[in-house]
Amino acid sequence: MLLDVQNLTTRFYTHDGEVCAVSDVNFSIEPGECLGIVGESGSGKTQVFMSIMGLLAKNGQAEGKAYFNGKQILGLNPAELNKLRGVEFSMIFQDPMTSLNPYLRISRQMTEVLMEHRGMGEEDATKASIDMLDLVGIPESRKRIGMYPHEFSGGMRQRVMIAMALLCQPKLLIADEPTTALDVTVQAQILELLARLGRELNMATVMITHDLGVIAGLSDRVVVMYGGRIVEQATVHQVFNDPQHPYTRGLLDSMPRLDDPGSDKLYTIAGQPPNLQNLPSGCSFAPRCEFVMEKCWTDRPELAEIGSGRMKACYLEKM
Ligand SMILES: Nc1ncnc2c1ncn2[C@@H]1O[C@H](COP(=O)(O)OP(=O)(O)O)[C@@H](O)[C@H]1O
Ligand SMILES: [Mg+2]
Repeated sequence: MLLDVQNLTTRFYTHDGEVCAVSDVNFSIEPGECLGIVGESGSGKTQVFMSIMGLLAKNGQAEGKAYFNGKQILGLNPAELNKLRGVEFSMIFQDPMTSLNPYLRISRQMTEVLMEHRGMGEEDATKASIDMLDLVGIPESRKRIGMYPHEFSGGMRQRVMIAMALLCQPKLLIADEPTTALDVTVQAQILELLARLGRELNMATVMITHDLGVIAGLSDRVVVMYGGRIVEQATVHQVFNDPQHPYTRGLLDSMPRLDDPGSDKLYTIAGQPPNLQNLPSGCSFAPRCEFVMEKCWTDRPELAEIGSGRMKACYLEKM
């Protein structure tokens, strides 16, 4: 197991109360695996990984355990985490400018990482950086490494950020909706690139997205989040062919249909996500669930195995 997350709970303390963004989340990632994390905006996807990487906002507090290669890393001090971030694991975001410095040439930003973490000299670091730009498909890498971030197109900037994240050959890359801001063709190219790099470098990848369609054909397994909890966990195949949680089915039904591209009457799950400041004692999906039963309002269904490695948190036997 590369990453093993146990009982992760993340709260934010705000002027109008406590926000429970992540509630008792458990999952693991195998080396080289591609794991999809799916859920509506606000379901806690990003904060799960911010918690693990020690990147929570100042008003946030995480509890639980996260074992990376057997070492417990949740709550490590910033100096220790700094030695791991970007080296053992890296995270990339929707906006490349959160990772790139607009005032420095790409060459400087890339070589600094290698000189600091790998102890390389400038010449070797430059060569390795150019190789990395080649690997992520930047044409004329030798020339472009001397440019500033704003001189790249959106898609190319995203590739530069991926190259930066991969410089120290991390064992885990977390991609947080990295393509949401890009047009559909470029999106597909970047996702395909990430999947290919994962395979070629034997690196585990986490693809976080609100859109199930994005991870079809890329991920091995999928974790579905709702209201800060995992509600279903299964292989991509199982999720697409036989979703077990009503929320997963809702997400599937809200995907644009390839076989009916003209249809612009897209299904959306009725109702609102739960209030994270005042979570119900029962299932937080109950108010939106077409299969809701009496006990769903009072007793929260635990995430439990339903055979062949699948898990769901729902009382419903069959949809
Ligand atoms: N600094 C913060 N202060 C208070 N609440 C926060 C803060 N950051 C995130 N949250 C809460 O955490 C919830 C989950 O956020 P996030 O993990 O970013 O969702 P997702 O990535 O699934 O869209 C948000 O809906 C928000 O209510
Ligand atoms: Mg997010």
